[in-house]
Amino acid sequence: MERLNVALLGAGTVGTQFLKLLSEREDRFEALATTVNLTGILVRNPERERPEWVPKNLLTTDAEAVLRDAEVVVELMGGTGRALELVDYALGEGIPVITANKALLAEAWDDLKPYAEDGMLYYEAAVMGGSPAVEVMAGSLRGNYPLELHGVLNGTTSYILSRMEAGHSFGEALAEAQEKGYAEADPLFDVAGIDAAHKLTVLARLIADPEFPWEEVRANTKGITHLKADEVMQAADRGTPIRLVASLYGEEGRWRAKVRPVKVPKGHPLATPGVQNAIFFRGDAVGEVVLTGPGAGGLATAGAVLADLFRLIEGYPGHSPAPAPVPAPAGPFLELEEV
Ligand code: HSE
Repeated sequence: MERLNVALLGAGTVGTQFLKLLSEREDRFEALATTVNLTGILVRNPERERPEWVPKNLLTTDAEAVLRDAEVVVELMGGTGRALELVDYALGEGIPVITANKALLAEAWDDLKPYAEDGMLYYEAAVMGGSPAVEVMAGSLRGNYPLELHGVLNGTTSYILSRMEAGHSFGEALAEAQEKGYAEADPLFDVAGIDAAHKLTVLARLIADPEFPWEEVRANTKGITHLKADEVMQAADRGTPIRLVASLYGEEGRWRAKVRPVKVPKGHPLATPGVQNAIFFRGDAVGEVVLTGPGAGGLATAGAVLADLFRLIEGYPGHSPAPAPVPAPAGPFLELEEV
């Protein structure tokens, strides 16, 4: 058996469920002739009450101790402050990183891109939570020139809109989404569209342009806070429910990205219920492809983190950006009415 030293940064919603899956999947690691040895679990408060499967003796606030003998770092702390320092340090030391941190990927790309190009960054969990998106875009669909992509990439806003359609208030629905572990630590990131913009930026770099600028996506992002309850209900009654959609398409010879609430055309797969996410992709070779599945939640997302760990153990590199910019396509594109 190979012993693999894994450092876990963060034991919040996703980190706790990742530890649960680690404790339940010994057979899978055995089949890969590997024993995972956790070097430590970096947390803010080791005294906080946690489920029984969390090894309490490994909880620490000492980042140096956790990273000292690490051969792989799993970063699930989120944010772009301390997480960036630690991820940067690990990568600089030649230690591969698995992360679900879309904010970090979107906003600190100048630092991270060289490592992603070297296959040292694994980030399936960063987009669409537990459902496949990153590996599909970075691999399966790379034989295509992308023509357009539209995604419902934030589970919290979909959940809120679905609940508002059923007559619940915005505040009530947001509180439920927080309780279920869907929302970001600061839910403004969800409802203002920033989380969806982070994810669209990651996707754009995988399929269209490895340098796609975060600032451009951010500048073209609008959230759902201005929507009125009766407007949301009426749109759903008419069969064109409102969803926060992130789009990538061509305009005047350039790639464009934007995030905004739209009325989804009748019967279109982007009309996702609850926490479901969806991506509608059109490529020049394959035509239309739809990916759909849970886009948030601790356990679902932890499944994707674990998949990255298996991938790494099996010797596959991480997710690399598009090798070069792809020419921006001319329309026509899916018509989506903004609200
Ligand atoms: N807050 C995010 C969402 C979590 O609601 O989609 C998953 O990235």
